Amino acid sequence: MEGRFIVLEGSDGSGKSTIAERIGRYFREMGHDIEFTREPGGTQISEKIRELILDRNNTEMDYRTEALLYAASRAQLVSEKIIPWLKAGKVVISERYVYSSLVYQGLGRGLGIDEVKKINDFATAGIKPDLVILLDVDPEKALKRKLSIDGGDRLENEDISFHKSVYEGYKKLSSYFPEIVTINGDRPIDEVFEEIKVLLTR
Ligand code: TYD
Repeated sequence: MEGRFIVLEGSDGSGKSTIAERIGRYFREMGHDIEFTREPGGTQISEKIRELILDRNNTEMDYRTEALLYAASRAQLVSEKIIPWLKAGKVVISERYVYSSLVYQGLGRGLGIDEVKKINDFATAGIKPDLVILLDVDPEKALKRKLSIDGGDRLENEDISFHKSVYEGYKKLSSYFPEIVTINGDRPIDEVFEEIKVLLTR
């Protein structure tokens, strides 16, 4: 496909949104058309699924249901938005993608990476990003920041051991997927972005 697909991954509160904006600005200044999206969400249907998944009252949600809902939200986003954008030659910047499901549901919830990858291969019709930037920040620090801002959603209110296993999960994942580049996010934003810029010019 013509365009470029860039994904930001990392723990809750790792600074994905700020970096996404910087990347967008960089490509815009180079004269590219940019589209931003986030997961779960990004289309009308996907946003409805997002509400369902993150609702703090849905305490009885089965882990498989959770994994399937994330995949369903993603399927809609890929077919309705991402594929047409890439076909139109745009730069697509997404906060989170399949890798989040592999880590949070596959490892964090213990459903297994292979199982979760299977439903996601189906959901995404095999659409893969050109680059995945993993923002590596201390999970405890990141979570504290997030909870102090908005009180957190259903996933963010899991205990710290869940978030630590997510953090370890990301580290493990990056050794399996060559498209993942790990960047130390525990630094001033300008410094982090300087390192990312080098990846964007490749
Ligand atoms: P969000 O508020 O978008 O978090 P953040 O700002 O940190 O990206 O909420 C998304 C939550 O859903 C977050 O806790 C991670 C989780 N998640 C999964 O468990 N699996 C997935 O496939 C995705 C995309 C997100």
